[in-house]
Amino acid sequence: MNRPVSPLLAAASLTEFWSPRVIAELDDSYVKVARLKGTLAWHNHQDEDELFLVLKGSLKIEFEDGHIDLQAGDLHVIPKGVQHNPIAADECLVMLIERKSTLHTGDIRTNKTRDISEQLAEFNSGGPQSSESQK
Ligand code: NI
Repeated sequence: MNRPVSPLLAAASLTEFWSPRVIAELDDSYVKVARLKGTLAWHNHQDEDELFLVLKGSLKIEFEDGHIDLQAGDLHVIPKGVQHNPIAADECLVMLIERKSTLHTGDIRTNKTRDISEQLAEFNSGGPQSSESQK
């Protein structure tokens, strides 16, 4: 599609927390957005790095040996195999870039886990007229 995509508006249009949606793809990777609040689960991605870019709010990512605090505009790459647990004390919007093979919660499954088919589902990706209506 030859039109711009706003990751911020797309993320803001999501109605469910911790349910990433694909907004673009490049080569063997997907660009996703997600709306986060609370925590996901400790997990790792054995074979894939995972890029987080915070679009709005702030996100804490716990590691076994510490944590990182990301503010809007901050980017962090979690290397493959590293145990991590994202925590959003308040609502946070993020963009993710990860290989198409990356599983949502890596080596584990929880009731929050979303399969790639769900992540690829059509959604209201934040046109100017729609971004405020679902809050
Ligand atoms: Ni992860």
